[in-house]
Amino acid sequence: MYLRLFVILVIVSLHGHISIIMASDPDPIQDFCIPNPKFGSIKTLAHLSILPCKNSSEATTDDFIFSGLKSSGNFTKTGLATIPVNPTVFPGLNTLGMSFVRADLKVGAINPPHFHPRATEITYVVEGSVYSGFVDSSNRVFARVIEQGEVMVFPRGLMHFQMNVGKKPATVLGSFNSQNPGSQKIPSAIFGSGINVELLEKAFGMSSKQIGTMKRRFNPKTLK
Ligand SMILES: *[C@@H]1O[C@H](CO)[C@@H](O)[C@H](O)[C@H]1NC(C)=O
Ligand SMILES: *[C@@H]1O[C@H](CO)[C@@H](O)[C@H](O)[C@H]1NC(C)=O
Repeated sequence: MYLRLFVILVIVSLHGHISIIMASDPDPIQDFCIPNPKFGSIKTLAHLSILPCKNSSEATTDDFIFSGLKSSGNFTKTGLATIPVNPTVFPGLNTLGMSFVRADLKVGAINPPHFHPRATEITYVVEGSVYSGFVDSSNRVFARVIEQGEVMVFPRGLMHFQMNVGKKPATVLGSFNSQNPGSQKIPSAIFGSGINVELLEKAFGMSSKQIGTMKRRFNPKTLK
């Protein structure tokens, strides 16, 4: 651990510019910055970047602990439950360049193809057998079943997916090297966002009726 840190420090000091290229979120300029609720709501991440930090002398141990991952979140119709842990729910994370997620998948459930524009993700299977993979920018797929205790990394910005192929529910934890990784689900981005139907027909070689079916399926108002 210390050796690795040392090596990274040496690399950074030899090639100062590299740290800029590798950086994801900006480096913090203080130990921590817990947004001060006196100055506004922290319900959206966009607000966080403009909220002043609360005086560090007012920080408590509990500011650095999040207890909302003890059980699964609420399941969607398709059997997926996710709890994103970012500074909106865990303000102590603010400016630290990291966030976290717990995902639970019922038997056969999927986490549909999606990507995080601002973060690499590393996922750890706490329980279950999960077919996991990603597709690189030359459309190569890297996927297999990963089991309890294994981790897989999804490089930043690349589309990835998961499916519980085991006989019992699966629980997966993911961590991100950004406090605001963003998440774009491919099916919803394409069919639920309101892109011109003619364009979609041409792009996918589908009829307007087929596109209509997909648009209803991924309509954000009915999708849950
Ligand atoms: C932060 O709190 C300390 C201790 O109460 C106080 O001395 C200091 O003036 C405060 N700083 C600001 C910017 O309010
Ligand atoms: C699950 O849904 C309930 C009721 O809508 C809500 O109070 C609770 O915060 C939700 N849990 C999570 C982890 O989002």
